[in-house]
Amino acid sequence: MNQKPKHAIWGRRSTFILAATGSAVGLGNIWKFPYIAGENGGGAFVLMYLLCICLIGLPVMVAEVLLGRRGRANPIMAMQKVAHESGSSRGWSLIGVSGVLAGFLILSYYSVIAGWTLEYVATAARGGFVGLDGVSAKQTFDSLLSNKSALVRWQTAFLCMTVLVIIFGVKRGLETAVRVLMPMLFALLLVLLVYAAYVGDFAAGFLFLFSFKLADLSLVGLSLALGHAFFTLSLGMGAIMAYGSYMPSSHSIVKTVLIVGLLDTLVALIAGLAIFPIVFATSGVEPGDGSGLMFISLPIVFGAMPFGTLFGTLFFVLVTLAAWSSSISLLEPAVAYLTERFRFHRVSANLLIASLAWLLGLGTVLSFNDWSDSRYFLGMNLFNFIDFITASVMLPLGGAFMAVYVGWFMRRRPLRHELTHDSSKTFRYWFMIVRYVSPVLVIVVFIMGLYGKFAG
Ligand code: PHE
Repeated sequence: MNQKPKHAIWGRRSTFILAATGSAVGLGNIWKFPYIAGENGGGAFVLMYLLCICLIGLPVMVAEVLLGRRGRANPIMAMQKVAHESGSSRGWSLIGVSGVLAGFLILSYYSVIAGWTLEYVATAARGGFVGLDGVSAKQTFDSLLSNKSALVRWQTAFLCMTVLVIIFGVKRGLETAVRVLMPMLFALLLVLLVYAAYVGDFAAGFLFLFSFKLADLSLVGLSLALGHAFFTLSLGMGAIMAYGSYMPSSHSIVKTVLIVGLLDTLVALIAGLAIFPIVFATSGVEPGDGSGLMFISLPIVFGAMPFGTLFGTLFFVLVTLAAWSSSISLLEPAVAYLTERFRFHRVSANLLIASLAWLLGLGTVLSFNDWSDSRYFLGMNLFNFIDFITASVMLPLGGAFMAVYVGWFMRRRPLRHELTHDSSKTFRYWFMIVRYVSPVLVIVVFIMGLYGKFAG
């Protein structure tokens, strides 16, 4: 009796939407988007980011889900199977290999930042936000960054939390997290937005995000916008492919992808609209303040609003959960690979990868204090380097190769078969974009970005 382990398929379409939204909505939307928008000219960045989502992100997402669903396996083996079916080289499975590696690298720093949100849960609950102004909010954040043992403690706590919930049934946890807590997060962001408009300078925040000067468009900003489009949609590294492999064949991929993309973009824009009015109304806080932007601006709002301690605690709990449902998907490709290829038990696979990510994460912890000025990695510190190599290199290239595979190498029959639920007009449009537009744009922006960063 040597049966192969069978690959599960989720019963309902909503499960895929929930899991993919859980993966997509995370620190990328609430922490990263506002701060890189702030550092790169606001509206100019937002415009490029939205263009990248529409012309590259969504079409590539359709391709990635499709590849996973066709292959019905972890990203490495799914690519092997799909390539075999279309008579192309096994080498295409390198996309999966790069994805598994990228997920691991991102997890290593993602868990450190999620650790900051945990610390902020504790600070909020203690009433630590009451009466904060720009200067004291910055001090609170800076003292966290210099406290290495606290950083490691929270990073460890977050990783343990991720692994434990995975062990005790990811399905129920994920369902509740996404079905109940995500809408709560969304609602709370809206409350914050209204309050920030009330106490902050909404007009300035709005104009900053939605108007732009041509002079603000830069090569580096463009390549960051591209990388962020991939990062925020969890694309190019197999997370969405892994989830796609559990998606029933009877559902439309295009419609599902549009829902996930819309939700993800909305959350990012609302987070930006809650944060920037405060930034502009607070002396000592600037849009370009970097990775602490959310941790400095939002506590000021909570400190000033009625029931701020309660709302503040709840908010950081919800952000931690959003980060948690993303970190599961960062682990998933590697875990699925170890279990299906090497017959690892799910628990040991999770433990192994999480421990390695913890170890590497220590380098990120140090990047915010002792090593912050080190320039050993292409002129960057370790955190900036891992962020660069994943978001600006591995994810866009991974996604571009997926698009090239689907657009140029996959046989037309399996391709059309996966998209039978979409009209032939939709198919034709999507196919043209994924064949000619997305890969070319990625490569052009990628090369210009490298030039801008290292030679410009
Ligand atoms: N999309 C997640 C976020 O925005 C991060 C992520 C990237 C998750 C890649 C999985 C894969 O926070």
